[in-house]
Amino acid sequence: MSNTTTGYTGTAKALHWTIVALLIVQFIAAWTMPDIKRDTKPDTLINLHISVGVLILFVAVLRLTWRAGHPEPPPEDGLPPRQVQSARAVHWLLYALLFVLPVLGWLNASWRGFPVIMFGLELPKLLATRAPGGGWTGDVHALLATYGLLTLVGLHVAAALYHYFIRRDGVLQRMLPGR
Ligand code: HEM
Ligand code: HEM
Repeated sequence: MSNTTTGYTGTAKALHWTIVALLIVQFIAAWTMPDIKRDTKPDTLINLHISVGVLILFVAVLRLTWRAGHPEPPPEDGLPPRQVQSARAVHWLLYALLFVLPVLGWLNASWRGFPVIMFGLELPKLLATRAPGGGWTGDVHALLATYGLLTLVGLHVAAALYHYFIRRDGVLQRMLPGR
């Protein structure tokens, strides 16, 4: 089934809200896991962060593949073209981060010698442990997640609330379950 003129399909909504739920778990794990230093050994929370992160990558790839065959529904009537273009730009930046962030995390986990295990299944290393020049991946991963992703999500959620409470159009409803 395709997205319609009035909203996203059940699949698009399910994938959207699954990623939102996984990101909430991911940030709680990131902010409660121990500070990672040179000799830190992965504990339960770090392993949870790694497993959920790889799951996010998996769902993001699934989502982008599905999206390639299902264009977004046409914009709501009467929206200024600039709003439509900026929404699109934010959506594509969000998709990009959902891919880039887990890959950077995976690179850094490999560089630190942490096994990358997704719920029991050990995945290949992307970098040799302590490979020269690989240390930046952790800093960029943490900075992009904290400042890049959270800023974009903040803009995205603010826009959804603006449509719902101020413009009072149907933009938020297009992504809500059951419509
Ligand atoms: C979209 C998915 C992800 C998000 C939003 C995310 C978010 C974060 C955040 C916010 C931090 C910083 C924590 C702090 O303040 O100390 C962090 C650190 C880290 N994450 Fe992720 N992460 C994701 C995916 C992954 C994946 C897939 C892996 C590994 C396979 C991973 C491994 C790590 C590691 C090793 C660190 C420590 C980096 C360092 O301090 O040098 N992350 N992550
Ligand atoms: C409470 C939080 C959120 C709300 C209320 C929300 C709301 C929405 C709404 C209403 C749309 C449809 C916009 C339209 O019709 O043009 C949408 C689309 C989208 N959202 Fe969210 N969202 C939230 C969180 C997130 C998060 C955390 C991400 C990813 C990190 C995300 C990524 C996207 C993407 C990529 C689209 C575009 C879908 C497509 O056309 O393929 N959203 N969101």
